[in-house]
Amino acid sequence: MDRFDLTGRTALVTGAARGLGRAFATALAEAGADLVLTDLPDTPDLADTASRIEELGRTVHVVPQDLSRTDELHAFADRVHETAGPLHILVNNAGTAALERFNEITTESWYRVMRVNLDAVFFLSQRLAEHMIADRVEGRIITITSKNALVAEAGLAHYNASKAAVDLLTQTLAVELAPHGITVNSIAPGMVATPIDDAFPFDREAFEAAYRERIPLGRYAEPQECAGALLLLASDAGAYLTGTRIVVDGGVLADQMPRTRFMPPYRPTLTRPPRTP
Ligand SMILES: NC(=O)c1ccc[n+]([C@@H]2O[C@H](COP(=O)([O-])OP(=O)(O)OC[C@H]3O[C@@H](n4cnc5c(N)ncnc54)[C@H](O)[C@@H]3O)[C@@H](O)[C@H]2O)c1
Repeated sequence: MDRFDLTGRTALVTGAARGLGRAFATALAEAGADLVLTDLPDTPDLADTASRIEELGRTVHVVPQDLSRTDELHAFADRVHETAGPLHILVNNAGTAALERFNEITTESWYRVMRVNLDAVFFLSQRLAEHMIADRVEGRIITITSKNALVAEAGLAHYNASKAAVDLLTQTLAVELAPHGITVNSIAPGMVATPIDDAFPFDREAFEAAYRERIPLGRYAEPQECAGALLLLASDAGAYLTGTRIVVDGGVLADQMPRTRFMPPYRPTLTRPPRTP
């Protein structure tokens, strides 16, 4: 288990106020890392995440930033470095989505999604990779994409495109940063119980019931169920993984169609060994 130990490493998690970001920050702290947390300014939940990390006995810095302000991101990265010192792990987790038909997406909505989900990942990784190289750390850059990076979902043209772009960006950075000992990977979650779609104009209950039928494991993931993949990619245990993605989707992408519902019930074929008296 020492290979998963992150004692002495510092990690920046974006979008750390809630959802997956909070679960990732907590898991990294549990593994021994010190944390820098960021989210939109004036997000009260960010302080809650910070107190959880402090309770675990780790050092935590909070550096709020609106990541859609892409021209501020190099300065933000420098501020993080000044505040926390050498950074070993960058978790590009912050993300945003809107449910809109393709023909109704406005220029504003398109660029809002692209700035947070794609541009921020690029500019933050760019500057922090420079710091990792200058500090001679074996850096880890982990970006949270989505199963929507691989298969489309209607009503999310901007979101799908942003996540697919980050998927290939991950591979490119992995190749360019490998000579510096920095690994770059992504995690592609399936359906996770978080507030990301709270503002979607849809019948949530009906949608979730229908979607659960599509998930071989039969349920949405809890945010912490994506943290195991993160710890692997962030630690020495995952040192030889780069340029790849870990899909954490309960089997959704493995299944074309939920056919098992239309099959005879499962019948175990293993026979029990005879009981010994
Ligand atoms: N929940 C899911 O089902 C799911 C599935 C696949 C991928 N993802 C991805 O996981 C990541 C985390 O999503 P989540 O489900 O925890 O969502 P969430 O909405 O609960 O959390 C996202 C966080 O990002 C922050 N954020 C958004 N815009 C920002 C900005 N401009 N500047 C700074 N911070 C900003 C939010 O304030 C929020 O705290 C996202 O990249 C999302 O696309 C989520």
